[in-house]
Amino acid sequence: MTDASAAALATGTLYGDHVHPIKRTINDSGIEMVCDTHRSQLIACGLDIADVAGFNVLECGGTGRDALGWARLGAKHVTHIDLSASNVERLKAYCESAGIDNLTAINGNILDHDLPQQSYDIVRSRGVWHHLEYPARGLARYASWCKVGGLVHLNAYRAGTFYYYGVTMFRELADLVPIEVIEKVMDEAGVTATRAGCLLDDFYVPFMHPLTHQCVADDFARVGLAVIWPENRQWDEVNHDIRYPDMPEKVEHIQYWMRKEQHVDPSPELISSLSYQSAQDERRLASNVAGADMSQSAFAEFSDAARRSADTELVAHELVKAYLVHHYEISVLPMSALERHTRLSQQLQRATERVANR
Ligand SMILES: C[S@@+](CC[C@H](N)C(=O)[O-])C[C@H]1O[C@@H](n2cnc3c(N)ncnc32)[C@H](O)[C@@H]1O
Repeated sequence: MTDASAAALATGTLYGDHVHPIKRTINDSGIEMVCDTHRSQLIACGLDIADVAGFNVLECGGTGRDALGWARLGAKHVTHIDLSASNVERLKAYCESAGIDNLTAINGNILDHDLPQQSYDIVRSRGVWHHLEYPARGLARYASWCKVGGLVHLNAYRAGTFYYYGVTMFRELADLVPIEVIEKVMDEAGVTATRAGCLLDDFYVPFMHPLTHQCVADDFARVGLAVIWPENRQWDEVNHDIRYPDMPEKVEHIQYWMRKEQHVDPSPELISSLSYQSAQDERRLASNVAGADMSQSAFAEFSDAARRSADTELVAHELVKAYLVHHYEISVLPMSALERHTRLSQQLQRATERVANR
C-alpha cells in the first residue's frame, strides 16, 4: 500500500470508527438543522428555495447528514461521496429505512474518484477541503464537477487564528499518545461526545491544511469560480484577537458560495498553478503576535517533559485538559491575543510540572 492510500484509509477509519459514530448520528433534528443552514445560505445567494427541486446536488465528504438535508429540501438527485466506508454504509441504511431513493452514496476519495464534469447544480463541501492531501487538486475537481452557472460552496478551517495556531502545536504532540489512550482518558473524565470528536479530529486526522483568504483568493478565478457570498468581506491574514471557532455565528469561518462562470479543465498544469497547496505556516503567521513566542516555548517544554515521561495516561490526561481549555475557554472567550497566549502558556506550564514531577 502506498503512503497516500494508507493515509486515506486512516482518514476513513478515523471518521468512521472514532469521530462520527459517537458524536454525529444521523437523526431527524440534525437533518432539520442542516436544512435551515442550506435554506438560509441559498437565500443569501439570491436563490429561490423552490429551485432546489430541479437540482442535482453533489455533497463532498461527511456523515451524509448534509446530503440528507438536500434530499429533504426536495432536490432532484443528491450524490454523496466520503472516504469512510462506515459513514457510507450508515447513510445507505438510513436511506433504505426512510424510503429515500434519490440519494446515491459513494465510498471514494474526492482526489481520485471519477465523477462526471459539469454535471451538478450545487457542489458543496463543508469541513472537508482542508483535510484533502492535495487541496489545490480538490479545488480544481470541485469546480470541474459543477455546471456553468451552478454554485460551489466551500467551508474550511481558518489559518492565522489563535485556534488553529494552537491546534497546529497540539498536533505536533499527538504522536506522544495512542488514540486509544486518549479515548480512554476522555471517557473516564466524562468528556462529552461532541468535544471528544473535535479533539480526535484535530489531533489525529492525517491531513489538515487550514487556509487564509489571502492564500486562496486568486485561485478561484483560475478554476472558473466567482465568489458571490460573503460580499466584499475583508479578512485579516492573521488575527489572534478574534474569537474562533465563533459558534454558532460562524462569521469568522473561511466559507464561500461561488458561481461557476466558465469551465476549466482540472489539468496538472492548472493544479500546480494554484496557490493553496498545503497548510499555512502558523508560526510564521504568528511571528508578530504578542505572546506567541511565550506559548511556543511552553509547548516545547511540555513536549520535552512528556517525551521523558513513562506515564502515557498522565500525558494524555494533561493534553486533553490543555486542549479543552484552549478550545472551549481561551479561543472563544473575548480577550486579547496577549491574554490568550499567556493563559495557554500558564496551562501548559502547570501540565509540564505535573508530568515532570511524577
Ligand atoms: C470534519 S468531517 C466533515 C463534516 C461534515 N460536514 C458533516 O457534518 O458530516 C470530514 C469528512 O470528510 C471526509 N473526507 C476526508 N478526506 C476525504 C477525501 N479525500 N475524500 C472523501 N472524503 C473525505 C471524512 O471521511 C469525513 O467524513
